[in-house]
Amino acid sequence: MAEKKRKILVTSALPYANGAIHIGHLVEYIQTDIWVRFERLQGHEVIYLCGDDAHGTPIMLRARQEGIAPEQFIERMNREHQDDFAHFDISFDEYYSTHSPENEALCRRFYQRLREGGHIVERAIEQFFDPVEKIFLPDRFIKGACPNCRAPDQYGDSCEVCGKHYDPTELINPKSAISGAVPARKVSSHFFLRLENFRPRLRELVRGGMVDTSVANKLEEWFAGELKDWDITRDAPFFGFPLLDSDSRREKFFYNWFDAPIGYLAALAHRLSRTNPALSGGEGAENLWQSPELEIRHFIGKDIVYFHALFWPAMLLGAGLRPPAKLCVHGHLTIHGGKMSKSRGTLISARQYAAYLDPQWLRYYFATRLAASPTDIDLNFADFRGRINSELVGKLANLISRAAPMLVRLFDSQTGVPVVGALPLLKEFRDAAPDIAAGYEELDFAGVTRRICALADKANKFVEDQAPWALVKSKIEEARGVLTAALECGRILTIYLKPILPRFAQKVERCLNVPALTWSDAQSSMPSHRINAFEHLVERIEERRIQAMLDENNPGAARAAEMPVADILPRDEKIEPPAPICTLDQFNAVDLRVARVIAAEPIAQADKLVRLVLDAGPLGQRTVLAGVKKAYTVEQLVGRLVIFCANLAPRKMKFGVSEGMILASGPGGVDIFLLSVDASASPGQRVH
Ligand code: MSP
Ligand code: ZN
Repeated sequence: MAEKKRKILVTSALPYANGAIHIGHLVEYIQTDIWVRFERLQGHEVIYLCGDDAHGTPIMLRARQEGIAPEQFIERMNREHQDDFAHFDISFDEYYSTHSPENEALCRRFYQRLREGGHIVERAIEQFFDPVEKIFLPDRFIKGACPNCRAPDQYGDSCEVCGKHYDPTELINPKSAISGAVPARKVSSHFFLRLENFRPRLRELVRGGMVDTSVANKLEEWFAGELKDWDITRDAPFFGFPLLDSDSRREKFFYNWFDAPIGYLAALAHRLSRTNPALSGGEGAENLWQSPELEIRHFIGKDIVYFHALFWPAMLLGAGLRPPAKLCVHGHLTIHGGKMSKSRGTLISARQYAAYLDPQWLRYYFATRLAASPTDIDLNFADFRGRINSELVGKLANLISRAAPMLVRLFDSQTGVPVVGALPLLKEFRDAAPDIAAGYEELDFAGVTRRICALADKANKFVEDQAPWALVKSKIEEARGVLTAALECGRILTIYLKPILPRFAQKVERCLNVPALTWSDAQSSMPSHRINAFEHLVERIEERRIQAMLDENNPGAARAAEMPVADILPRDEKIEPPAPICTLDQFNAVDLRVARVIAAEPIAQADKLVRLVLDAGPLGQRTVLAGVKKAYTVEQLVGRLVIFCANLAPRKMKFGVSEGMILASGPGGVDIFLLSVDASASPGQRVH
């Protein structure tokens, strides 16, 4: 247990300042944040850095379009990005920008050392130039027909039809994507980093555990041929840092991918200068970077592995600095099996998501889908809703949201000692800690959530079996002990979930009246004490909220992609005419009572039906067939208080007689919500 305290520097890739954060980006920031929070919870020291990648042609053009200076544009983006990340509880220690004095100084220093080390060569190259806009065109800003398969309208770097990579100058009938003009070819001289100089060291790193084996195998292909020199400069006009190099006649700038990773160090420098302004020059950051006990980890998407596994380590080695210890590479987010796309209405910004849905849901959902390997992650909204409602709400929150209010009502909020019968269960909960910790450490968050849900199932079943609501009538202290054990299980689960769900954990801490939980608290027990009033932990997802979010993008297409056929009928066809007037007397004649579900059995041959046995206190037992099969599990039903109509004429149905009807609302399927009943109510009691 007494592991040495680690010192870890963690980064997420610096998002481009040319657009909004979308939920694809969030895969990365949520993954990193979960890992960071886990390490902190273990007592390790973590510095989590990020910031905007603020340079480059697209940013310059966006600002130009808006008629503002690029500095003004990136400042606004930076504020927006930080605001978005805050909504999703991303716990950066520093969020900076590559357009900063620290970065400029560091960037020059890197360049100087690379030059002195003989790693930079100058060479004239021919590039496309937009004669209207008067700028050199980046590959992505040139379109034309593929030189290989002749598919029209392909970008300057590769063909989306046949997959071939080529030089933009090979395109057939090239056009500028900005002005539409036929680009001219222009020669200018550029500076290149000689990657070949670093081949043996780079290869060693790739094989030596800097990346997982699956990624390493892929990288081996790069080493098969020559490592091409990398162009680290761009011509004016460009938004970036000028080179100020005496050799160059023209105005030259550092390519944004040169200064972007140096931005990690600049963010560190800025962080350090908050406590000691003398350290803002970058030397402090370099010194810390070099300290052998510091573990450096970059979290990145699979699309930028090349930059982080080759260019960046080469830059660091050439500048006399340590390469990162580990690159944690994740896959890409797809939505309903496809790339996120504006035209399909599946490009969802962080802001848009947060306007409709709870960020905790996305953190939990991504966790259930994330593994250590860089495979793509698919977001399917039906699966998303199902998991949140059945796992997060139905299993994880359920434990505390049932036990806490009961303890408050029945025992004046005072916990006791867990019943003896719960000790094996509690031991199992505590013994799971090393396994769950290993899952977090190795980025197997899917495994972590599976493990935690399995524990929750056991604890929920324990409460069902012990039925404290019944026990309280005869063995009052035992009932308290059952509820105390349930809360103890809930507390331990919360510790295990805390890296994924910091807000949920905070609410549980408040409710259980315990100080901020840390990992080792799983091994101790709560003393007997008073807990606080219960507050709602997390909501169920309703389909219409997801729909409303998607409708904002693209009403028609989004709906068709997602909904079962019955639900996309024009809404009018589903409106039924109003029923004949019902008098107040008739309405009052409906006898609504509280009942406890004492047994539930899904009817195998029916889609929706569950046979429920209700205990209605003095009114006796009733069997009711209810259409809640998709919305609730047996575990969630048994023990629960419901409201039912006690004087409805018994009805003979295909699968038996139903002696009443329980009250619920919602559109159907998984979206049926049983009316909830105060835990202090007793079966048979009339509802007004
Ligand atoms: N600016 C560069 C990174 C420079 S790091 C020195 C960049 N920016 S980005 O905004 O395009 O992407 C930022 C991160 O988000 C990258 O790691 C990228 O892989 C990740 N993602 C962007 N879209 C994504 C998905 N659809 N799915 C998962 N991750 C995605 O690259
Ligand atoms: Zn092609």
